[in-house]
Amino acid sequence: MDRVIIFDTTLRDGEQAPGATLNIEEKLEIARQLEKLGVDVIEAGFPVASQGDFEAVRLIAEEVKGSAICALAHADADAIDRAWEAIKKAKQPRIHVFLSSSDIHLTYQLRKGKAEMLALACEMVARAKGHVEDVEFSPMDATRTSPEFIYQIAEAVIDAGATTVNIPDTVGYTTPEEFGRLITGIFEHVPNIHKAVISVHCHDDLGLAVANSLTALASGARQVECTVNGIGERAGNASMEEIVMALSTRKDFFNLTTNIDTTRIYKISRLVSELTGFSIPPNKAIVGANAFRHESGIHQDGVIKERTTYEIMDARTIGLSSSTLVMGKHSGRHALKTRLEELGYSLSGEDLDRAFSAFKELADKKKEVTNRDLESLVAEGLRTTSEAYHLEQVQVSCGDKSVPTASVKLIAPDGTVLADAALGTGPVDAVYQAINRLVRVPNTLTEFSVTSITEGIDAIGEVTIRIESEGSVYTGRGAATDIIVASAKAYMNALNRLLAAKGKE
Ligand code: KIV
Ligand code: ZN
Repeated sequence: MDRVIIFDTTLRDGEQAPGATLNIEEKLEIARQLEKLGVDVIEAGFPVASQGDFEAVRLIAEEVKGSAICALAHADADAIDRAWEAIKKAKQPRIHVFLSSSDIHLTYQLRKGKAEMLALACEMVARAKGHVEDVEFSPMDATRTSPEFIYQIAEAVIDAGATTVNIPDTVGYTTPEEFGRLITGIFEHVPNIHKAVISVHCHDDLGLAVANSLTALASGARQVECTVNGIGERAGNASMEEIVMALSTRKDFFNLTTNIDTTRIYKISRLVSELTGFSIPPNKAIVGANAFRHESGIHQDGVIKERTTYEIMDARTIGLSSSTLVMGKHSGRHALKTRLEELGYSLSGEDLDRAFSAFKELADKKKEVTNRDLESLVAEGLRTTSEAYHLEQVQVSCGDKSVPTASVKLIAPDGTVLADAALGTGPVDAVYQAINRLVRVPNTLTEFSVTSITEGIDAIGEVTIRIESEGSVYTGRGAATDIIVASAKAYMNALNRLLAAKGKE
């Protein structure tokens, strides 16, 4: 059986989704989990894009040794040198250089001819090769480029030192049959193709990213670029969990393997959703809340008699927990540590102390603390580690005959305690107005949603919001058994992200 290289770009293309901005700790945590999941290559960021991106890639390269760490660079000498600076401490460093190849991009965006594009691509691949052995090249918008030009580019960049040639469907335009033909054509027309791995990178504008990627693999591509939950630019990228589970569930058809520990899929999907603020639709394949639920009587009857009558996958293969040990207010630190380890989080020292005190606080309010509650607690901890302003206290008074009033106390970056109060159209509005009086950053609230993490009246409520400031979108999430507190936390989370982004400019 052939092995497929899983190249995860959640931290690069995934993070390009509007509002998905992650801070450095969050990126590091996702990278650690991607390594445990067994992804072969982590595209950690685009170092020349910002100082924050550079730092995140550098830290990931220093810490994560089980996966190759890739840095993206456009076809520019400084961008390539910066990419190398960021990954030079990685155990398996890779530089990924891209340059547009389609007539549309060459004419309107780059204003270059084909010969010029080809020469620049080779020059930049050679420059990257001067730093590192493992070099990937992508002709951007490949699926709207003539196949003959793609063959020519592939041959030239392989001669210049590329070890992987990636074929991006940048705008999600291709179809499975057409894309399969392009990949087969590359094998037939590029004489030195045996010296490189063919990779594919599909976007989901027509909902075909996974189908296109799988057809390319069936046609001989051996690296697939994807993101957790399919997050990414516009409609997103090909979803990692869908590709991996399709290859594993239909081994009989594809005859391909991956290095992925599928039992970690559910957990990383939750983590990415928690940290980016991108909820998973209930009907999402593999990781949606309904993916393993049966409602119809006939289906339920079949599953009770024999699971495989209506289930093509066992929920345990993606890591849906089967643990029955109940966590509650009598559970100790050791039990929490063990359960978190079962869920894939290895916390110790101060992180475990923080998680334990949050757990005790929750267990006082809630009879049974579920795995989803614990995941939310850990994500909450990650959210508060790098905040400028900290929410110390929030209090509201509201009702059908009174004007909603809120008072808040915040700890400022210099440690001073700030307090103020405000009126609002409702309790959440009053809280946000009070916070605005203290943190004076103009912004517009564009989205607000509340979901309950588990069932029951004592469930944790999770609030996700998006705010817009000067054309950029920032997501915030907060969780608490009190939804007003969760709303305040979500707003602080979004404001802290906004402030961090402004600080980096
Ligand atoms: O979609 C795309 O073309 C990309 C490239 C940088 C590979 O993300
Ligand atoms: Zn992309």
